[in-house]
Amino acid sequence: MYFTSLVRSCAFLTRSTRPSRHAFVRPILSAPHVRYSSHSPMGTPSANPRKKVTIGTLRSLHRRGEPITVITAHDFPSAHVADAAGMDIVLVGDSLAMVALGMEDTSEVMVEEMLLHCRSVARATKSAFTVGDLPMGSYEIAPQQALETAIRFVKEGRVQGVKLEGGKEMAPTIQKITTAGIPVLGHVGLTPQRQNALGGFRVQGKTSLGALKVLEDALAVQEAGCFAIVLEAIPAEVAAIITQKLSIPTIGIGAGNGCSGQVLVQVDMTGNFPPGRFLPKFVKKYGDVWAESLKAIETYRDEVKSRQYPAPEHTYPIPKAELDNFVGLVETIEKE
Ligand code: KIV
Repeated sequence: MYFTSLVRSCAFLTRSTRPSRHAFVRPILSAPHVRYSSHSPMGTPSANPRKKVTIGTLRSLHRRGEPITVITAHDFPSAHVADAAGMDIVLVGDSLAMVALGMEDTSEVMVEEMLLHCRSVARATKSAFTVGDLPMGSYEIAPQQALETAIRFVKEGRVQGVKLEGGKEMAPTIQKITTAGIPVLGHVGLTPQRQNALGGFRVQGKTSLGALKVLEDALAVQEAGCFAIVLEAIPAEVAAIITQKLSIPTIGIGAGNGCSGQVLVQVDMTGNFPPGRFLPKFVKKYGDVWAESLKAIETYRDEVKSRQYPAPEHTYPIPKAELDNFVGLVETIEKE
């Protein structure tokens, strides 16, 4: 039934005489006569098929002491590449406010905007466990509000879990969500949504009392049912001790190598930003996507301007007889 409707809809596509911007490709993994738009995800066979990562997979990684890999994604392409690269968790962080929507900080992003991006990411993450960040204002008012938002993230955003910021004070909220069967990733230490109260983006836990507070927060959100906790911007030694005191994994960002896993914002680690932008100390730049894209787009611009592109190999052929006929038809029309 599904197959026939697919073939029927594709037959429509191939019969169409309307010129299309989209080329059609033959997918390797499905019926050879079915053609999709080259921009369709169906046009790209999975390079590295993996089993779906579940809460069980994450627990077993933690039990075995194997680091858990986490990266952010904000749309289909950034999630597609993260999934193909074998990430365990893909996080639709609210950092998308800045990296995808050009906002100044995370406080501006709305639930509907997060949901749109979660859906787009979730279409690509065939294997990675996908988590969506609850944006500021969508969960702090009451546990009921948080549960309602978390349910929207699962039903509309199609993610498998949600992340929310905060320690002890958020424990009843986290409990409300986890008891409804929605996995929660905690987030303590530097919590960017509270930057105004923290006096900016400041490293947390730098004093013994500050470190104790981060530990107490981590223990409280663990007790409330979090499946893992992000530890952001705390000294490596403190993060390592907290990790030892917890029975669930810690995912560090600016928290050293003693955590159970690591998370980075994708645009940071791939170098997808113009030169001169400030990068926090903990970010390692593994690529230079900005420079590569810039070079490619500038070359394209130059080749279009100089008529080097498109070359004959980028064009579609027509049989000579058909072309001659066409020229004849054009001449007839011109005479009329
Ligand atoms: O929003 C985000 O990208 C995050 C990660 C940096 C943990 O919260």
